[in-house]
Amino acid sequence: MTNDQPPVIKFNNVSKFYAAGGTRVTALSNVNLELKVGDFVTVMGPSGGGKTTLLNCIGGLDAPDEGEIFLNNRLISRMDDRELTELRRKEIGFVFQFFNLMPTLTLWENIELPLLLSHSAKTEDRRIHTLLDYVGLSDRAHSFPAELSGGEMQRVAIARALVHQPTLILADEPTGNLDSENGAKILELLRNVSTEFQTTLAVVTHNPQIASYGNVHFEIRDGKLTRKE
Ligand SMILES: Nc1ncnc2c1ncn2[C@@H]1O[C@H](COP(=O)(O)OP(=O)(O)OP(=O)(O)O)[C@@H](O)[C@H]1O
Ligand SMILES: [Mg+2]
Repeated sequence: MTNDQPPVIKFNNVSKFYAAGGTRVTALSNVNLELKVGDFVTVMGPSGGGKTTLLNCIGGLDAPDEGEIFLNNRLISRMDDRELTELRRKEIGFVFQFFNLMPTLTLWENIELPLLLSHSAKTEDRRIHTLLDYVGLSDRAHSFPAELSGGEMQRVAIARALVHQPTLILADEPTGNLDSENGAKILELLRNVSTEFQTTLAVVTHNPQIASYGNVHFEIRDGKLTRKE
């Protein structure tokens, strides 16, 4: 890995505002940010500070009101919904606090779903096998999410986030619904993912212990992002 690689994500003076009950909320205030290939980035900060807004703007789920966002050198902040959907399906994996698995699909089918949605020509059975093995659930391929523990569900969600080989994984409080032991296991898994698959990882958390897993640390409050050493 060299330092002159272009950033995976670059923000130029990004701001985002919401109108809430007659008042204007500044969710992101002049944010500048660069994430490099393989970085494991953590974002901490108080509730309402702008963490989810930041992650959603990085992932093209939300658009800024001011400034520019580049993903792998492409300007995404002015893409339309169709282009953004396409981009997310190809390049970004999301891991959510509440897992967001489809209850009527088996583990195997949940992991396969992003491939089907992006109209992947072949169903990549081997890759699904490998990922299930990687997250330690190969013997549960035909179970349903309701038959799993929270930690197991989050491992499935990580396998699903990896199946289309994204350059970037975004996780919003991925351990928020797990006990500390399982939370630590999920973070170990995410850290292994970022090294083995050369994936850039951004994790939002309230938990300083979880944040210690990253190699680049940020804090956001009142929409202002600062880097922590
Ligand atoms: N859809 C919305 N409409 C109006 N205001 C919003 C909306 N989404 C977020 N906000 C406001 O923007 C600010 C940042 O919200 P955000 O969800 O990014 O915070 P957060 O740091 O993720 O908080 P938490 O830790 O509680 O999840 C807050 O003041 C919030 O009330
Ligand atoms: Mg949030």
